[in-house]
Amino acid sequence: MLIDFSALDARTAYFWMASTITPRPVAWVSTCSAAGVHNLAPFSFFQMVTPSPPTLMISPLLHPDGRAKDTTRNIEETGELVVNLVPFALVDRMNATSFSYGPGESEIEQCDIATVAATMVKPRRVAGVPVSFECRLASSTAYPPGKPSCHVILAQVIAAHIDETLLDAGGQIDPVRLDLVSRMGADWYGRTTGQANFSLKRPEGWNRLPPAS
Ligand SMILES: Cc1cc2nc3c(=O)[nH]c(=O)nc-3n(C[C@H](O)[C@H](O)[C@H](O)COP(=O)(O)O)c2cc1C
Repeated sequence: MLIDFSALDARTAYFWMASTITPRPVAWVSTCSAAGVHNLAPFSFFQMVTPSPPTLMISPLLHPDGRAKDTTRNIEETGELVVNLVPFALVDRMNATSFSYGPGESEIEQCDIATVAATMVKPRRVAGVPVSFECRLASSTAYPPGKPSCHVILAQVIAAHIDETLLDAGGQIDPVRLDLVSRMGADWYGRTTGQANFSLKRPEGWNRLPPAS
């Protein structure tokens, strides 16, 4: 079956992309507005971009009426965010925070989420997550120019909080104990447990400089 994306509306393109580009990690993004309202929302359009400088990307879509989501507005207003990773134990709490609360309402209060102060930024960390990244805004770009549907937000990681009980004897993160949730298509989620994990060594010499052309 061939799908011609040039003829697709955004909803259908979303369906095919979001249900096949999987599993996607979930960034549970904590921000604080200039007025001091704490906000928390999940985003699965999320990735690491480069370790140098350590940078991650989230892409909040615009609302159908063209308004930016609270997360985008807060990040652009204050330049700060905390990206929490979501353990299976908190998946229902994470889901609850995706509800469209108004800019003056805090998901942290409305959904009764336990948080702790971050170290270097004002947005709070979610308590009980295995990993959270304290970040500063590097750039926010409305995409595509002219008729944007989202903001591509690059954020520099300035500190990470890692639950040390997740480290194995060699100091590596144990993926099974990490037990993060990921986003699949429709209402499906994945977990990083059990047989979903396997180990694979890179080919010998994989990291040589490629030959010059
Ligand atoms: C698992 C999950 C992943 C989501 N990923 C995204 C995403 O990548 N981009 C987006 O715009 N909305 C995404 N949403 C929806 C937002 O979380 C939702 O619009 C939220 O209300 C935004 O909150 P805010 O206005 O406080 O920023 C996701 C929701 C869930 C449950």
